[in-house]
Amino acid sequence: MNEAGFVKKQPAFKPDNRLGQGEETDEERERADKLFTSNDRREAFRRLSVTTALELEQAMLHYKKKVLLDLLGKKEVNQNIVREHKTVYLGASTDIEYPLCLGGRNIVLVDPTFKDEVGRLLILNKIKDMGGHEPTKISEDEYSFLFDFGNGVEAVSVELVGKSYASREEFSEYKMPDKVGLILSFITPSGPTAGHPLDARVVRDKLVAGGMILVFGEALDETTMNQERGRFLNKNFGGDIEEAIRIFKGDGGALLSEEARWIFKRHGYELVPTDPFEYERVEGGRVTAEMGEVTTFLKKGTVL
Ligand SMILES: C[S@@+](CC[C@H](N)C(=O)[O-])C[C@H]1O[C@@H](n2cnc3c(N)ncnc32)[C@H](O)[C@@H]1O
Repeated sequence: MNEAGFVKKQPAFKPDNRLGQGEETDEERERADKLFTSNDRREAFRRLSVTTALELEQAMLHYKKKVLLDLLGKKEVNQNIVREHKTVYLGASTDIEYPLCLGGRNIVLVDPTFKDEVGRLLILNKIKDMGGHEPTKISEDEYSFLFDFGNGVEAVSVELVGKSYASREEFSEYKMPDKVGLILSFITPSGPTAGHPLDARVVRDKLVAGGMILVFGEALDETTMNQERGRFLNKNFGGDIEEAIRIFKGDGGALLSEEARWIFKRHGYELVPTDPFEYERVEGGRVTAEMGEVTTFLKKGTVL
């Protein structure tokens, strides 16, 4: 369970060796065929990949696809906003497909790996392979290419930023631009310079009204989260956990969801519930169910 407190059980992903990275389950195929009406966007979805611990790779990939299909299926991602404003992807690696599937037209991929020419070339080749559209260099770090999101081909821009992001501005090489529509954060935080996007008030101020933020992993650092938990308890239940449990009739899941909603609202976001990530792995013939990272998806709202 993560700080967002989602405990509802979902069907676990079963490792299946017949599925290679990038291949689709029947359910994914069926949902994606319905959702994506253009070849380009469908192809981007087909080519989605993950960079993570090998043992988790396959499960993470299916999880990533599920989050995407759920959010788009429920029309949670405002397509006007991603058309008009920037989509900033912190810790992108070579994952150009994810923001394209989400409808991003002005994409900024932020990852220190782009300091290296290889990372850049990989992205440019991926774009070419995906829809056969050749990227054109428009400035030192920026490229343009054609892509069909479902309404005919449009020009898309992608900026490759070889910098690291940190929540504390003084530690951040990357400065968040103004008027961002969507932030995707896949950074695995570590140390004082880590990037938990919600720690930084500046991030909220840079998001346009109705802007969104999707965090894989922890949205707030542990110390802040613990302080917020204390505040939630004090403010709503006089600091009495027993009282909170009684009011929620012993439903720990509902209490944690309420806590998450309250905390994120205090930081100026509305929580959009997404499902937990559970998977099973076979260890010496034994199947072990595990809970991994979950996604926090938030819309800019008002500060509580
Ligand atoms: C777990 S990988 C995720 C890659 C890809 N988005 C995916 O879904 O497979 C995390 C990436 O974040 C990058 N990263 C780590 N710290 C970062 C920071 N402070 N700012 C920007 N990127 C960072 C790493 O170089 C790495 O490529």
